[in-house]
Amino acid sequence: LEAYFQPKLLRGKRVLITAGATFERIDAVRGITNTSSGKMGFAIARAAAEAGAEVTLVAGDTVLPTPADCRRINAKSAQEMFEAVEQNVPVSDIFISVAAVADYHVVNPSAHKIKKDAATMTLELAANPDILASVASRADAPFCVGFAAESEKLLEYAEAKRKRKHLPLLVANLVQQAMGADDNEVILLDDAGQHRLARAPKLDIARQLIAHVADLYQQQHK
Ligand code: CTP
Ligand code: CA
Repeated sequence: LEAYFQPKLLRGKRVLITAGATFERIDAVRGITNTSSGKMGFAIARAAAEAGAEVTLVAGDTVLPTPADCRRINAKSAQEMFEAVEQNVPVSDIFISVAAVADYHVVNPSAHKIKKDAATMTLELAANPDILASVASRADAPFCVGFAAESEKLLEYAEAKRKRKHLPLLVANLVQQAMGADDNEVILLDDAGQHRLARAPKLDIARQLIAHVADLYQQQHK
């Protein structure tokens, strides 16, 4: 019911969101992943839909239910997520990159279960595409919002990331405060400076973030 009263700040806007962790296969039964519940990204998808947006949610390896009125595309690996995002960028006004994308994948995943017949083993890893950086550098880039989960030097690392990826807005949070939890506390970094969102349930944080995104987007498209 509360959603019904949310102002339709993104009416008709097409919002593409990645959420959750990717999973990179090692063999038939094992893989490498990141710690991410997907809750923050799914809350943002819900908040964007409440605000009247047409939401496409590219979901990583998570079992969370799809929020109401969102179109969901499942993508397990970073490569699959990259392809799903690339396909949808040309029809998106806003891209919010919340997913915890694995930075590397296994070079030669085994089709069969690897047996423990050696005392040591080495996995060869190769870098994954940086989905957000790639989208943000396109000539037809939508309004791009990044996330930075850091375990230390939050503002320094986050602002460096925002500059490196040329993002109008980046959401910074400490992993110790966010991971798996039902609430979060974040700092929004944009060209005007820092805006702190006090600790609150993830859906509240998501609604405040969407209001901020809508504001910046409108300023840019006046
Ligand atoms: N991201 C992405 N594709 C990747 C890696 C990250 O789209 N291959 C996005 C994340 O969704 C997030 C932002 O980039 O919005 C920052 O991710 P993060 O892991 O914090 O930064 P990295 O640039 O990967 O740098 P590092 O892991 O070294 O801190
Ligand atoms: Ca990373």
